[in-house]
Parts: sequence; C-alpha cells; structure tokens
Amino acid sequence: SPSDPDLVARARAAKEKLGDKVFILGHHYQRDEVIEFADVTGDSFKLARDAAARPEAEYIVFCGVHFMAESADILTGDDQKVVLPDLAAGCSMADMATAEQVAECWDALSEAGIADVTVPVSYMNSSADIKAFTGKHGGTICTSSNAKKALDWAFEQGEKVLFLPDQHLGRNTAVRDMGMSLDDCVVYNPHKPNGGLTAEQLRGAKMILWRGHCSVHGRFSLDSVNDVRERIPGVNVLVHPECKHEVVAAADYVGSTEYIIKTLEAAPAGSKWAIGTELNLVKRLANRFAPEGKEVVFLDRTVCFCSTMNRIDLPHLVWALESLADGTLVNRIQVDKETESFAKLALERMLALP
Ligand code: 13P
Ligand code: SF4
Repeated sequence: SPSDPDLVARARAAKEKLGDKVFILGHHYQRDEVIEFADVTGDSFKLARDAAARPEAEYIVFCGVHFMAESADILTGDDQKVVLPDLAAGCSMADMATAEQVAECWDALSEAGIADVTVPVSYMNSSADIKAFTGKHGGTICTSSNAKKALDWAFEQGEKVLFLPDQHLGRNTAVRDMGMSLDDCVVYNPHKPNGGLTAEQLRGAKMILWRGHCSVHGRFSLDSVNDVRERIPGVNVLVHPECKHEVVAAADYVGSTEYIIKTLEAAPAGSKWAIGTELNLVKRLANRFAPEGKEVVFLDRTVCFCSTMNRIDLPHLVWALESLADGTLVNRIQVDKETESFAKLALERMLALP
C-alpha cells in the first residue's frame, strides 16, 4: 500500500533538517517505505563495512535489526550514536545463543579436550556478547557473503570450528563450499546437557554447529522447490544460505541478499526466478525486474515477512528522525566497552578476510 503522504513529507523534512548529521542505513529486508529514506542499502556485510563510512555523522539511524545496530556501534567512533527506530526489532536467531549457553558449550569442549583446537566462527546474526566470546577465543565473525572465507581462515588456525548460531549457514557452507560431508558436522543443542553429544561425538566432528535457525528461511522446504519447478518450467531457484540443507542442495544458486540482487541484475531478459528469502526483498525485486522482462516469484507463497525487520516502519522512522532533529536522542544502541573491545576484534578479523 502507498505510504501516507503526510508521513513521507515529515520524514523528508526531518532528514533535511538533520543534513550531514544523520546517516541512514537500510537492510534489504526493510519495507519499501523505509528503504526510500536509506542513504545506503545492503546485506549485513556491506552494512557493517559501510557503517563507518560517514565519521562526520553524529547519528547513524539503523533500519534493520538489533544485532546490526550493535555491530554498527562497535565499528564506529564513540562520538557517533547508533539509533534503532524500534527497540523491539530483534532477531529470533540471534536470541537462540546466549552468553551463558555458549560458555557452557565451551566448557563441554574443554572437557572433551578439544577447546584448544577449536575456532569459533559466529554469524553476524548474534548478540554483541557472542561476538565478544568469539573475539576472546581467537575466532571471527562471518556473514552469508563471506562464510567460506571465514571457514578457510578458521581451519588455518585450528582443526575444528564451533559455528554459532545458525546451523544451516554452517552446514551449507561446510558441505556445499568446503567439500565436507554431513557426517563431519554435529549439532550442539544448548537445551541438553553437554549439547546432547558425547565427548566422542565432539572429538569426531570437524564442524560443531549450534542448534539455531532463522524462523523465516526455515519455512522453505524441498516441496517448495519441487512445486515451483513444476509450476514454472525453466525456473531458476535462488535461495539464501539460511535455508535448510535440502533446500540449498536442490537450488540452482545460493547466496546473500546482495548476491541475490546482483544475480538478478545480471540475468537475461526472459529468464524466470524463484527466490527463497524474505518477502519485502522479493516483492521489491519482482517489481523492479518485471519491466525488463525478468519474472521474479516468491519460492513459497506460504512464507511471510521477517516480523522483526518489519517493525521498522515509516511511523517509527519519522518518530526517530523528528526526535533527533529536535535534539532528543532516542533508542540509542550502545555496547559496553569491555564487550565492545572483544567483539571488535572478531569483527575486524572478518573485515580483514581476503
Ligand atoms: P544478508 O543480508 O547478509 O544476506 O543476511 C540476511 C539476514 O537474515 C539478515 O538478518
Ligand atoms: Fe533474523 Fe531471520 Fe529475520 Fe534475518 S530474516 S533478521 S535471521 S529472523
């Protein structure tokens, strides 16, 4: 539905009043009404890299979810303030790994005698605490666009990887990009003693996958892929690596949100694409590429928006911008110094990957 013209005018006025004082970042899963006001859009990697691109901006308004705003705070100067327009915009996957659970897991690895040879690799979609744990134990952060590079690096540092918190990205990267087998991976369940694994199983694994997942991407199934291939002959199936392994294995192309966009940009007219990722992005791509004769459909019509990404809407953005324009700092995301220093170590290792 079209945006309320009054709100659009207010957002425009507040942004203009703030001028260079504000820098607005927007993740690709954001609503159209929000993306319209973003100075930069991107996948999680690009947004982490670009967060520090405007050191003169006093406010960074992050249109995305909580862990992204935390990462932006970690990677920018103390005098830059990161604002999340709705504090309820979390990520259910990031919430699946708490600092206490991860500390317990590390104890289990120590007891099995493998902590010394294990390198933590944590997906960007994790809290600052988990990133700090990762930095402290010699590991790196990764996103869906550099997970293979991160694993290559990690296996140069040690013999095993503890991959947090998305089991699917971990498994898909290990099996699809690194040539490992499914048997090289075990799943650590934080709700069971010792992760539900014996010390023998831990010692036998190359990849120890945390039992986390994305509730949105987890809903695509092998049936989604088979059905769309039947419905649309010649369709290319392009999915995000947060999808389950069987979905990724059946897809033609796999990659981050930025990769999905680039792939469609390069696709020839007349080609047909079924996309397995969040709905705001797929809708935007369908509208954008239709005039070029590229047919873009949603991989599974029963899968919905990411509800937390969707919490950032135009009313919240207007409220945040108008507050800042009036000199009131609202919804600041600030990571404490101790956590920040270790988390930064892990994020900088990611940014330094070749
Ligand atoms: P990317 O944009 O890095 O592909 O990540 C997708 C995602 O789930 C972010 O929450
Ligand atoms: Fe988290 Fe999934 Fe939403 Fe991304 S799409 S923010 S991983 S719940």
